[in-house]
Amino acid sequence: MPKYDEMKKIRDELLVFKGSPLYEFRTSNKYFPVIGEGNHDASIMFVGEAPGMNEAKTGKPFCGASGKFLTELVESIGMTRDKVYITNIVKDRPPENRDPTPEEIELYGGFLDQQIDIIQPKVIATLGRHSMSYIMKKFGLDLELEPISKIHGRIFEAVASYGPISIVTLYHPAAALYNGSMRDVLKKDFQALKNFAR
Ligand code: URA
Repeated sequence: MPKYDEMKKIRDELLVFKGSPLYEFRTSNKYFPVIGEGNHDASIMFVGEAPGMNEAKTGKPFCGASGKFLTELVESIGMTRDKVYITNIVKDRPPENRDPTPEEIELYGGFLDQQIDIIQPKVIATLGRHSMSYIMKKFGLDLELEPISKIHGRIFEAVASYGPISIVTLYHPAAALYNGSMRDVLKKDFQALKNFAR
């Protein structure tokens, strides 16, 4: 099946994903599920946590304030948002922007797993600790998992179903929005992705 059709199938399933504890909140607010956006052949895939209000209203990932900073970071390695793929673990907005629960991460993780197999990125850049933890465990890096303050900016090597994959662990851009020194850390850590930019 062409990649576009495979991704559309995921979208169709998410639209009617009544098994999610976030389904009722989404439909009663007329929000969209946020599947992801970008190039289906991207070598770099970004995985954030969950959509915020702007994202749920538009159906587009990282389109608010932290998204603006993410765009700046992507451009700092000579890329544009349309050349990479950007998504989240959890595809529906949690109320009051609370952290996703372990149950939600588990439920939506299956959709992310499918997206990784469709896109087959060379590198996954995790944004924030929830995404870091999910992706590192998924790729058997449990033993290397440490607090994000210790392992941000690192490159881990693993094997995906389709071949070798690198995992780059980054802070969430929202953490840097009002913190100048964190902005600098994120900009510096982002350079770990430069070798994958094409
Ligand atoms: N934060 C995220 O983790 N994802 C988005 O799409 C927006 C904000």
